[in-house]
Amino acid sequence: MIETRYLTKTYGKLTALKELNLTIDQGDIYGFIGPNGAGKTTTIRILATLLRPTSGQAFVCGLSVNGQAREIRRKIGYVPDEFGTYEDMTVTEYLEFFGALYGIPPKERKTVIQGVLDLTDLNFKEHAQVDSLSRGMRQRLALSRVLLHDPQVLLLDEPASGLDPRARIEIRELLKELRNMGKTILISSHILSELRELCNKVGIIEQGSLLFSGPLSEAIARVRKGDVVRVRLREGSEGAAALLAEHDFVNAAQLDEEGFVEVRLREQIDDYTFVPEFLVSKGYKILELREEDVDLEDAFMKLTRGQVS
Ligand SMILES: Nc1ncnc2c1ncn2[C@@H]1O[C@H](COP(=O)(O)OP(=O)(O)OP(=O)(O)O)[C@@H](O)[C@H]1O
Ligand SMILES: [Mg+2]
Repeated sequence: MIETRYLTKTYGKLTALKELNLTIDQGDIYGFIGPNGAGKTTTIRILATLLRPTSGQAFVCGLSVNGQAREIRRKIGYVPDEFGTYEDMTVTEYLEFFGALYGIPPKERKTVIQGVLDLTDLNFKEHAQVDSLSRGMRQRLALSRVLLHDPQVLLLDEPASGLDPRARIEIRELLKELRNMGKTILISSHILSELRELCNKVGIIEQGSLLFSGPLSEAIARVRKGDVVRVRLREGSEGAAALLAEHDFVNAAQLDEEGFVEVRLREQIDDYTFVPEFLVSKGYKILELREEDVDLEDAFMKLTRGQVS
């Protein structure tokens, strides 16, 4: 659905994007993550055909940004990182304006606008002035606008930035709804944990280079070292902990405050299935086994080198 090949963008001496190769398939929710200045907005603006690449190629729905910009624009919805101001315009007028711009026939416009307002829960503000909306509502309005022409691909540049926790959750729920409608979504953020529930794939960019692109689970697995597994046993936890502590694959084992045996694996061990096998072979009865959650912020810091341009 989206593909870039050796996509490069320079601003004078500064290389903002270095030979970026990424692939986003239909129905993917791709989290594009990187620190400030990494090149996220640059990439998104190129895909939205608002910025020309210096070299390399980018395709959206099989169309090239070099030469087929007009066709691409019909297929995408782009939400920029800044909303802009629209003085003296109500929510409905704003959507009417963009509906006309997208070429939606006047007869259909009302229904289409009602549809996107329903989806984004903005009905109650249809007569409000755009400039009077809260930041969260404005983000939802920006999403309403790009949904007017029912695009297949959404390019969202930090749609949740500057929002309070509740508004973030609302945006996330809305994006989940769009995902369920089968849209392909590229969403940028500098917060990895925010994208966890939403995205099936992530790309991690730093200083214009893609450090990782692929399934979220793989990104996590990459930084997962010295895993911790917790096991709850019917009885004999202390003895089990002592036995496990002697195991070749185990770094340390002890009881945690909930009474679980906390097993810290050796760094090079990434498969913990030996833990239940070992315990069962020793006659223990396992009630529960949990893998400790990887701290996503931690994962992100390890994947990036912490360089900010
Ligand atoms: N119009 C421009 N002229 C010169 N340099 C630019 C221009 N736009 C972006 N840059 C530079 O390109 C690099 C990438 O910027 P970009 O806006 O793509 O980063 P970003 O990942 O979106 O960052 P942020 O998280 O802050 O939004 C930065 O070093 C930035 O200063
Ligand atoms: Mg940006």
